[in-house]
Amino acid sequence: MHILGIDTSFDDTAASVVRNTTILSNILSSDLPIYQEWGGVVPRLARLSHEQNIDSVIQTALKRARVPMEKIDAIAVTYGPGLSITLEVGIAKAKELSATFHVPIIAINHMEGHLLSFLASPEKKDTPTAEDTRDTNNIFPSLAVLVSGGHTEFVFVPHIGTYEIVGEKQDDAMGEAFDKVGRMLGLGYPAGALIEKFAKEGTVGTIKFPVPMRSVRSADTSFSGLKTAAMRIIEPLKEKRGGVLTKQDICDVALGFQTACVTHLIEKLTFALEEKNVKSIVLGGGVAANATLRSELRKTAKKYAIPLYIPYSKKLCVDNAAMIALAGYFKAVRGEFVTNSEAVERDPIARLTAQAIIF
Ligand code: KG4
Ligand code: ZN
Repeated sequence: MHILGIDTSFDDTAASVVRNTTILSNILSSDLPIYQEWGGVVPRLARLSHEQNIDSVIQTALKRARVPMEKIDAIAVTYGPGLSITLEVGIAKAKELSATFHVPIIAINHMEGHLLSFLASPEKKDTPTAEDTRDTNNIFPSLAVLVSGGHTEFVFVPHIGTYEIVGEKQDDAMGEAFDKVGRMLGLGYPAGALIEKFAKEGTVGTIKFPVPMRSVRSADTSFSGLKTAAMRIIEPLKEKRGGVLTKQDICDVALGFQTACVTHLIEKLTFALEEKNVKSIVLGGGVAANATLRSELRKTAKKYAIPLYIPYSKKLCVDNAAMIALAGYFKAVRGEFVTNSEAVERDPIARLTAQAIIF
């Protein structure tokens, strides 16, 4: 089965073609330099850039996959969560293509895409097969750790398509906290990967951040206190240095901050794991690219004697459309096609639920 995936939930215009769970193409168009100038995404500009880029991104995805539109079995499009005015662009394009080529639509929750992205496989050029899918029998029930710029969620997954959030952000998302502290350190936007890079040269123990919500016995997370703590650490340090932090200061703050973030997430994950009996942990979302987080998650998984599943490339951790096409494939297998295309609407605050949303 060939699925075309489209995601315009935030700043990247993304399209992809998958054959079952194999990625044939995964195209992104991003206006990152503009946002680096503004220090964050500007919804109005993001919409404009989606409108300008969507046709060529889709064409490139089809061309790279060597699959013409006539051979696409379904169009999977993100309906939420995300920015209303950017989600609309992808949905409108999916409706247009659906009407022109008589192809059904599948509406996808962006977080389901992040959650399932670990199931994607790269195309093996030498051994192309028509029915390449992974055996999921030993993976579920699973606990998903979803960490992105907008979300921090622990999701219990009895099987693909049924989701129960067992812990979530009470304020800032983990990626958002990295971006905000990165900004205070003058690292630009987005800052997650740069904080990780600087932290590698930090000296352990030089700067300590408090670990949030230690006395709260729940799997919910709170990262905004770490942002305030960063401000209280950075400002006096700056004054001491006559206005500008040294590179070593930046490295030490980055390390202290990252350590507290990862410790907080792991502590809360432990609560979720105590609550649910699972066969595996899966990781998804932009922050999943962080090596320290991965290594601490590996230790936790080992402690519980269960495997940890991670997307096969960093491109699958950050926003992309392959994960949307892949989630679409699993919905297509279950027959969860949109029954009335015109009813598909964006839902900027869409949540993962136990029951599938079809429209
Ligand atoms: O999933 P994603 O691409 O977009 C959302 O759906 O939000 O996640 C982007 C987030 C940004 O906040 C970015 O700073 C963070 O992921 N990020 C990282 C790393 N790479 C990206 N955070 C920590 N360490 C990284 N290596
Ligand atoms: Zn995302």
